[in-house]
Amino acid sequence: MNLKQALEERRAFKHFDKEHSLAEEEIQELFSAVQLAPTAFNIQHCRFVLVTDPELRQKLRAVAWNQAQVTDSSLLVILCGDIKAWEKDPIRYWRNSSPEYQEIVLPSIDAYYRGRDQVQRDEVMRSCGMAAQTLMLTAKSMDLGSCPMVGFDFDAVGKLINLPDDHVVAMMVAVGKTTAPANPRGGFLPLDEVLIRNHF
Ligand SMILES: Cc1cc2nc3c(=O)[nH]c(=O)nc-3n(C[C@H](O)[C@H](O)[C@H](O)COP(=O)(O)O)c2cc1C
Repeated sequence: MNLKQALEERRAFKHFDKEHSLAEEEIQELFSAVQLAPTAFNIQHCRFVLVTDPELRQKLRAVAWNQAQVTDSSLLVILCGDIKAWEKDPIRYWRNSSPEYQEIVLPSIDAYYRGRDQVQRDEVMRSCGMAAQTLMLTAKSMDLGSCPMVGFDFDAVGKLINLPDDHVVAMMVAVGKTTAPANPRGGFLPLDEVLIRNHF
């Protein structure tokens, strides 16, 4: 499947085959692709919680507007981020680089994030957004459907997964074998309205 086709066929699917499951190799294939999504300074701060416990899925559904995707999908991924990843042994993000480059990039990372709480959080949201789209397009290329989700109580979900204090939840993505087509598209704004040239 080429990229354009995957983009056109990725939709927010709501109905999944409860009996379908993913092989471990498929999970590896999906997340090897997700790791290719970019992060600023390569800090790779996204964390992907795969919820495999059926009881936990039920509890999550109860705090997610009772959405069936939460329990019925083959894979439920809670995309989180470590907002302090930038200061946790950052040399590991550049371990393949030359010492000369490390000497430049490591202080730059520190200077960019230190004392900037909003930036640290925003960056997680940006990265998780890109990771989510990569996950959904890769799923499509493997003939699987997906649904991005923010329809849930973020605090309750954080509690259920023991979210560490220095992490945040960005969104969920359900992945699986779809059993019904997606809803008709809501309709696109005219390109003229969303495409701004030079300035507003
Ligand atoms: C960040 C985000 C959160 C969303 N949350 C939900 C959700 O909780 N439940 C749901 O059924 N769809 C959810 N959607 C799906 C959107 O409604 C859907 O992407 C949009 O209507 C466009 O349709 P399409 O994805 O099929 O092209 C979400 C989408 C995004 C990007």
